[in-house]
Amino acid sequence: MDPHLLLFLLLSTSSLSGIEPAATFKLTNLCRQTIWPGLLSGANTAQLPTTGFALRPGKSRTIPIPAGWSGRIWGRTLCATGADGKFTCLTADCGSGKVECGGSGAKPPATLVEFTLNGADGLDFYDVSLVDGYNLPMLAFPQKVTRGGCGATGCLIDLNGACPKELKVVARGKGRVGGVACMSACEAFGDPRFCCAGEYSTPETCSPSVYSLFFKYACPRSYSYAYDDKTSTYTCANTDYTIVFCPRPYTSQEVLGRRKDGASLPLVNKTSMYWPSRHPNGAFSSVR
Ligand SMILES: *[C@@H]1O[C@H](CO)[C@@H](O)[C@H](O)[C@H]1NC(C)=O
Repeated sequence: MDPHLLLFLLLSTSSLSGIEPAATFKLTNLCRQTIWPGLLSGANTAQLPTTGFALRPGKSRTIPIPAGWSGRIWGRTLCATGADGKFTCLTADCGSGKVECGGSGAKPPATLVEFTLNGADGLDFYDVSLVDGYNLPMLAFPQKVTRGGCGATGCLIDLNGACPKELKVVARGKGRVGGVACMSACEAFGDPRFCCAGEYSTPETCSPSVYSLFFKYACPRSYSYAYDDKTSTYTCANTDYTIVFCPRPYTSQEVLGRRKDGASLPLVNKTSMYWPSRHPNGAFSSVR
């Protein structure tokens, strides 16, 4: 057989068997310290080649994503391997005891980016959610503007300092105590009104609270409570995505301002850029 034909046959069967990724996600860490992204595939969706890894400051890693993938990605902070050999993180830990999460999700509070690729109409659906609280600023955007809105979304403001006292998760580091994450009101108080549970489990009966509005004002495009769909879900098609941890609010605005994505809400609420805040990964390197 012609060796070229053989090569062609090999290549075409490998793409038929679904080895070729449908998309890629580029994860970039602009935080001042290492973060450990966690990746969780939804039920009935293909597994990713990694479920967790370390990402040093300024570094990126591109991950092939299978067609029709759905799942969520987050960033773990302040992680270390203890004397017992177990790897744990102070925020957004997945409880696996290892760097790879292996099918476990983030312990709240955690900023999450959620995807359903190739959904209705062939569109990808994505959002950045603060429904399970917040631990890191995050930006997600399609690399190409194609079909759908293709808007950039995320929460670009550091809310760990500005977080209301009742919701704040604090840690001690380098002799100082400061916020490392911000709980959702549902998690902090367990009240069905905040959790959109029980008699509050419909869009009509569950309303935003002062707490969900704290998140929504700072990060107008992010999900702030369970029924915040209308202003928080974005769509695009046939594109790769970039996810940035700790994006710089100003430069992100500059880059994204040229995209004309048609989203009705600003990506950053300028008034919230002056809230008292401290970078989550700045002062708190070692807490154990
Ligand atoms: C920006 O934040 C202020 C309060 O901090 C709020 O009143 C206003 O509605 C916010 N704007 C948006 C677009 O969310």
